[in-house]
Amino acid sequence: MPQPIELPIWAELQAHHQRISGLHMRDLFDADPQRFERFSVEAGDFLLDYSKNRITDETLPLLLRLARDRRLEAWRDRMFDGERINNTEGRAVLHTALRNRSGRPVFVDGEDVMPAVRAVLQRMRDFSARVREGDWTGCSGQRIRDVVNIGIGGSDLGPLMVCHALAGCDEQPLRVHFVSNVDGCMIEQVLSDLNPETTLFIVASKTFTTQETMTNAHSARDWYLRATGDEAGIARHFVAVSTNREAVAAFGIDTAHMFEFWEWVGGRYSLWSAIGLSIALAVGFDAFEQLLDGAHWMDEHFRHAPLERNLPVILGLLGVWYVNFFGAETHAILPYDYLLQFLPNHLQQLDMESNGKSVDRDGRAVGYATGPIVWGAPGINGQHAFYQLIHQGTHLVPADFIASRRPRTRLTHHHEIVLSNFLAQTEALMRGRTRDEALALQRAAGVSGEVIEQRVAQMVFPGNNPTNSLIVERLTPHSLGALIALYEHKVFVQGVIWNLNSFDQWGVELGKQLASRILPELRSGRLEQAHDASTEGLIRYLLAKR
Ligand code: F6P
Repeated sequence: MPQPIELPIWAELQAHHQRISGLHMRDLFDADPQRFERFSVEAGDFLLDYSKNRITDETLPLLLRLARDRRLEAWRDRMFDGERINNTEGRAVLHTALRNRSGRPVFVDGEDVMPAVRAVLQRMRDFSARVREGDWTGCSGQRIRDVVNIGIGGSDLGPLMVCHALAGCDEQPLRVHFVSNVDGCMIEQVLSDLNPETTLFIVASKTFTTQETMTNAHSARDWYLRATGDEAGIARHFVAVSTNREAVAAFGIDTAHMFEFWEWVGGRYSLWSAIGLSIALAVGFDAFEQLLDGAHWMDEHFRHAPLERNLPVILGLLGVWYVNFFGAETHAILPYDYLLQFLPNHLQQLDMESNGKSVDRDGRAVGYATGPIVWGAPGINGQHAFYQLIHQGTHLVPADFIASRRPRTRLTHHHEIVLSNFLAQTEALMRGRTRDEALALQRAAGVSGEVIEQRVAQMVFPGNNPTNSLIVERLTPHSLGALIALYEHKVFVQGVIWNLNSFDQWGVELGKQLASRILPELRSGRLEQAHDASTEGLIRYLLAKR
């Protein structure tokens, strides 16, 4: 497969960029009162307004040609059909099967995976109902009050984000906590408030070998045993979610209490699998199923909507436009919704672990930029922290603004404030403030002389900063599922354009290997391996200060 930069369309896009990069969006809006209508799409729970982008009528058709020349639709179908498109690990990529609500079979090597998917969902339904209703009790016969999900990366970020988003202000029978960091402070802090006889631990790890998770799981077990002394009770207080049956058994968890998933589910795509058990416990299995329904809706949209009205395709291509043609190095996710507080963290792993690569799927060094630095925080808080740089700094920061049309809070006057800020910020980032406008403001305020020049220089905003506005009808399990799947497919689209395998993560290996060499040195107090002078100096320093 040729690299994208070898395609004629790439040069056409470069030429188009040269022609339009000097245009200001403010002028584009002035020249075209229909710009919103022409550059927005309503689909399902969403309105996507992408009119505040540095595009003209020619841009999207050219980007769509790039997508077609990269055979996006064929790659998409190969993923949904269970082909082993994760070529470096020889695996299919079927998180979409986990939320396949259509009754359609999905084959991997001739075997339909759907019966096994449905069987695990049924077990999750039964188990979560028993725990939530107080039928599954702890070692002393008391009902479970607290659930602690122990996991990291994809075994943490997705479920944490969804639990926070869906719990909202509603009363729930269980409190769900997350322990990810191996710094002992985290688990100590969480456990300090809990009763071992009424706490259930979910050890969530695809591999069941991840050092951070296994260390925390052992500390949780020690804590439980110290308090109760009841080995047999472990079966009532520890369950596992994993693909690795042997390791679960070796840890001491009865595999009857293991919820299985499969190698064709990537960690950062796993919240739809049994990794979502904490979600089902937190908000009930019906809500978990609605989450799957929403994601399935987005899968169908991605498969069937024409590319020019296809939400993940549009978002993916606009991202490519900025990364490869404007040289943008970053992309911000700015939810104007407190309940989506952890969405940026989840999308950061999803995007950066998938497309943060400099070798393509055929093993060649890429000669072009790939996945941007994805970051973000709730927009309202960001306004009082980092928006200064987006408005007046020297970096181009394309951003997604996400808000719900209907609030979940009863304090609707708060929601109006949130929305007014959402709208104001995207308007300000697009329009900016000219020198003339700044001058007029200062004159009206009675400022004159030298001061006015000084002030005006600081008050100019360049504007022309691209944003997408994504309005969700209301944050429900269904719309949240669709929202997450939207970003999964956006990442997929970009991976296809860049010829990446978005489903491996070789870049996490080296640090893990080196840590496993250094740990024995810290434990024994002896330097045993050769290190560079800096690392050796730091180890010696730490050992000398013990
Ligand atoms: O180190 C990165 C990673 O492998 C992620 O891809 C994954 O989500 C996370 O660690 C946790 O892995 P596991 O679920 O196997 O513990």
